[in-house]
Amino acid sequence: MDLIPAPDRVERTERYLELGDGFGIEAGPGTEGTARWLRATLGAATGLALPPRQGDEHDVLHLSVRPGLGEEAYRLVVDPHGVHLQGGSPAGVFRGAQTLRQLLGPDAFRRAPLPGRTWRLPLTEIQDAPRFRWRGLMLDVARHFMPKDGVLRWLDLMAAHKLNVFHFHLTDDQGWRVEIKRHPRLTEIGSWRARTKFGHRASPLWEEKPHGGYYTQDDIREIVAYAAERHIAVVPEIDVPGHSQAAIAAYPELGNTDVIDTTSLSVWDNWGISPNVLAPTDNTLRFYEGVFEEVLELFPGEFVHIGGDECLKDQWRRSATAQARIKELGVGDEDGLQAWFVRHFDKWLSARGRRLIGWDEILEGGLAAGAAVSSWRGYEGGVTAARAGHDVVMCPEQHVYLDHRQADGPDEPVPIGYVRTLEDVYRFEPVPAELTLDEAAHVLGTQANLWTEVMEDPARVDYQAFPRLAAFAEVAWSGLPAPAERDFADFERRMAAHYRRLDALGVGYRPPTGPLPWQRRPGVPGRPIEGAPPHK
Ligand code: ACM
Repeated sequence: MDLIPAPDRVERTERYLELGDGFGIEAGPGTEGTARWLRATLGAATGLALPPRQGDEHDVLHLSVRPGLGEEAYRLVVDPHGVHLQGGSPAGVFRGAQTLRQLLGPDAFRRAPLPGRTWRLPLTEIQDAPRFRWRGLMLDVARHFMPKDGVLRWLDLMAAHKLNVFHFHLTDDQGWRVEIKRHPRLTEIGSWRARTKFGHRASPLWEEKPHGGYYTQDDIREIVAYAAERHIAVVPEIDVPGHSQAAIAAYPELGNTDVIDTTSLSVWDNWGISPNVLAPTDNTLRFYEGVFEEVLELFPGEFVHIGGDECLKDQWRRSATAQARIKELGVGDEDGLQAWFVRHFDKWLSARGRRLIGWDEILEGGLAAGAAVSSWRGYEGGVTAARAGHDVVMCPEQHVYLDHRQADGPDEPVPIGYVRTLEDVYRFEPVPAELTLDEAAHVLGTQANLWTEVMEDPARVDYQAFPRLAAFAEVAWSGLPAPAERDFADFERRMAAHYRRLDALGVGYRPPTGPLPWQRRPGVPGRPIEGAPPHK
């Protein structure tokens, strides 16, 4: 059956249940959303109407919620008469529906039926539950904009892999992508740049055309609702106090005006870390509180990501205003100032019933207990955070930054970072061995990150993400053994079927034999890092 991610327990026979035209769905309380998804998605792929049924025994998919099973757990039984799918919650039923789709074969991932196709399910019994409750994917839509349709498609791809947290990187030096009504210049000015570096920042090449785009507030509401139908939480990221040049270009008073002429700044057209960071003023705090008020209205979830990474301190060192602030607050130095900045929003979000999450730099100044950390510079930040009682999402750049090249060799498009193969990702372990059980309980889960500096269009994003995201999904969902004991050969065997699913979905993955001609970018410089990454 070649399921990915692998379920906990499977029993199967060599017999099948044929799905005829009359095959229907009985949707118990709480399963209506999954029934709707099945009709829309499997209905389109198979041409079956999947009409509502009640009280019938035969040729029916019975959906029900059984709270005893555990939040996202499900049990799927296909017998000669019909199908029973029980979930521990509506989310569990939905996760089971993803398994059901895989059981129907790759053509179930198409959007219209192929002529003459018939449909059958193997008789089977599957019990399944996720290892982690945070199975995330971060998409950077700031460096290269992903139009709304592409984001919705990514939510479908996440759902198909049982991922459940979409970390939406909405702002950065190179673009501001979310409409904020009280600060319209954020998108009027901040959502586009005149040209774009093509390749790594050392590349001499430029794409000499405007690049941009943003989501209206209604687009965001649609994205959040679409995600919710798939039981995916959306975590917005609005970066402070670094990675803010696009905002400063839109509102120059947000920058360090006593150090540089911020009115001369534009949205950044190059990659790297901009020195243009927010000024630590009351005006900046009030401005961003206004931004976050609208963000909270748009994103109802528990977590709000405030970035917090890579804030260069040079301008604060040179700014009389920043230095006066350091003295006034008694925070010692520029690092203390950054910590004060983050703590301000930590308290502000907590007071509104939300939780702050930020990149591991936010640990440096002391955090409220409710705040969580995205451990990206390695495992260390996560270990420190877990030991201090903070929740952690493990996303070390050495392992699950999918912008890093997936093979050695000259054909990889714009190769950057370490070589992280499909097998490397399959052997990634989110929980460091040095944590005690109590500390490890703070690891909410894991996340793969897609930074898009060298992904200029959605096809490049597909290429960097797949097939590795399938391995990541199995790491995040399945209770795999220790890395060295993982059966990669079996995973690869199942991938043969999964490539057919990805083909049907229209995913432009990297083939095992290497990039197709149109997936290469000859002559566009990257920045490969030689040698093996630090291992765990
Ligand atoms: C990051 O990669 N700067 C979080």
